[in-house]
Amino acid sequence: MADRFAIILAAGKGTRMKSPRPKVLHEVGGRPMLAWSVALAEALGCKRSVVVVGPDMPALSEAAAKLVGAANVVVQREQLGTANAVDAARGALSGVEGQAIVLYADTPLVPKEAGERAFAEIEKGAGVCVLGFKAKLPNRYGRLVTTGDGSLEAIVEANDASEEQLAIELANSGVMAAPVRLMFDLLKDVKNDNAKGEYYLTDLVGLARGRGLKAAVAHCEERDVLGVNSQAELAGIEHIFQQAMREKLMADGVTMPAPETVYFSHDTKIAPGVTIEPNVVFATGVSVASGALIRAFSHLEGAKVGEGAIVGPYARLRPGAVIGRHAHIGNFVEVKNVTVGEGAKANHLSYLGDGEIGAGANIGAGTIFCNYDGFFKYRTVVGEGAFVGSNTSLVAPVTIGAGGYVGSGSVIVEDVPADALAIARGRQAGKDGWAKAFRAEKSAVKKAGKKPDGAI
Ligand code: UD1
Ligand code: CA
Repeated sequence: MADRFAIILAAGKGTRMKSPRPKVLHEVGGRPMLAWSVALAEALGCKRSVVVVGPDMPALSEAAAKLVGAANVVVQREQLGTANAVDAARGALSGVEGQAIVLYADTPLVPKEAGERAFAEIEKGAGVCVLGFKAKLPNRYGRLVTTGDGSLEAIVEANDASEEQLAIELANSGVMAAPVRLMFDLLKDVKNDNAKGEYYLTDLVGLARGRGLKAAVAHCEERDVLGVNSQAELAGIEHIFQQAMREKLMADGVTMPAPETVYFSHDTKIAPGVTIEPNVVFATGVSVASGALIRAFSHLEGAKVGEGAIVGPYARLRPGAVIGRHAHIGNFVEVKNVTVGEGAKANHLSYLGDGEIGAGANIGAGTIFCNYDGFFKYRTVVGEGAFVGSNTSLVAPVTIGAGGYVGSGSVIVEDVPADALAIARGRQAGKDGWAKAFRAEKSAVKKAGKKPDGAI
């Protein structure tokens, strides 16, 4: 197989997004759109991806450099059209041999298979291949004029099309593949004598045919190549991504009674046999093992949930939460950077941050790991089988030994040895009859129409 390269166009200003953030850094499934294109290029085996940005886009250039390396970020000085944008990658790809694919960074959901189909046409000898689709409303798209044998004769932009050509439903997605050297060679001959006065990448079709080369169409679905120009379109793409993810997970054996209320990220991993109740959000970096139950209204990010564990309802797992097999994390429990051992339980109203909880330990309601002194963070370790009574503050760094027992309401600042009891709260005092006498005294004052000193 020839070496592959990607040219990712991201120079558009994205004014219709009306956002200070560069358009292609808006996220779909928790991943910036630009990173989707880079991931597609990687999945297609591209050796390098060159990202074309506009001038004065420092945030975008920086993000692109992180993804593909600074040497692969090039600037298109002026927005003179898609051919001019691709041409900006000429220097970065000088001397390379192989095949290139042009992707738009604002079109994040192109499936790998579609890219493979485009490359396959080039492998078979076509000079250029574009991804085409049947458009429901083709109005703004370039139309694909095909010949009797289904190969491509020309791409006509809507502004330049005749009535007859406007009736064509087959539209250009913008994704194009070609041999690298041929592509840059043909680009030299692109002119801007069209309705928009732009250099059209689509002119490569006619130019390739002029050299006796075949131009091909590879087909895909419209939803695979939808682009984003506005916040509403971004939400539309997010919806498509979520739907696809839900359908895939259900097909793989995940139980979801209300899938339309569950949100996933691009990298969410859910094993077959997991049940997810309504209104759960999976931010990035989550994996859930078989048999686990994620109950309603939970939010998970950067967390690992073990086999048969129960999380929620109303639980929050933050990055570094590792929930062991058959462990329980209940309502209003927040876990951050804590490993929870097998079968351990924290069922109610707790903050567990930075530490570890041994297998079979029981964390009582209202337990707080006090992990931060305003400057530094410290770890809390709760040993295997330990019991932490309700409303306990564990002031880190602190260790409760295995099998240790902490009385409710304690503020624990020192380590508790294994199997020991620690109680750290005021000792209870009692006075017989005190309450009755108190009530008698106060009601007498009130009846007399008076108030004690200082009452309002
Ligand atoms: C382009 C295609 C059209 C296709 C449509 C699909 C051409 C001439 N037309 O039209 O056939 O149906 O996409 O959406 O190619 N860009 C740059 N620099 C430029 C111009 C564009 O980086 O100078 C980038 C944009 O940011 C965008 C992409 O290229 O991501 C497409 O540009 P756009 O202006 O949206 O092209 P269309 O006119 O929609
Ligand atoms: Ca467009």
